[in-house]
Amino acid sequence: MRIVIGCDHGGFELKKDLISRLEKAGHSVTDTGCYTPEAVDYPDVAEKLCHRLLDEHYDFGILLCGTGIGVSIAANKIDGIRAAHLADEYSARMAKAHNDANVITLGARVLGPELAWSIVEAYMASSFMHSHHEVRVEKIMALEKKN
Ligand code: RB5
Repeated sequence: MRIVIGCDHGGFELKKDLISRLEKAGHSVTDTGCYTPEAVDYPDVAEKLCHRLLDEHYDFGILLCGTGIGVSIAANKIDGIRAAHLADEYSARMAKAHNDANVITLGARVLGPELAWSIVEAYMASSFMHSHHEVRVEKIMALEKKN
């Protein structure tokens, strides 16, 4: 898969770990930063990654911050993004199967690297179920135009 990944300082170490695991598993990974552990603002990180994802048609994006919450809130403000804040494998599968999430967000101060990797693997192994879920996802996207 072609994956784009980004973080703030809170997610810096976990991002390095996930990039290494993803590359070992044969995926192509683009890192949109941050590139040092110095403090950065998570809305900037989320905005940059989401525009790269949409413009360059990656399969999906991974955003990391301390909790995963800030990047999730910010990413979901961007037209075309369905970001799922994940902390367990079942939700990871459903985020793809039911919600067709195109960004997953993880809290590096909440999850250990093994659980974070299991969540990423579970999401990647899942497929969008279409059918009535498609109607619901279309309704989500219509909210961006209506409100
Ligand atoms: C940074 O200290 C922290 O606020 C950020 O990484 C994230 O957890 C925000 O939601």
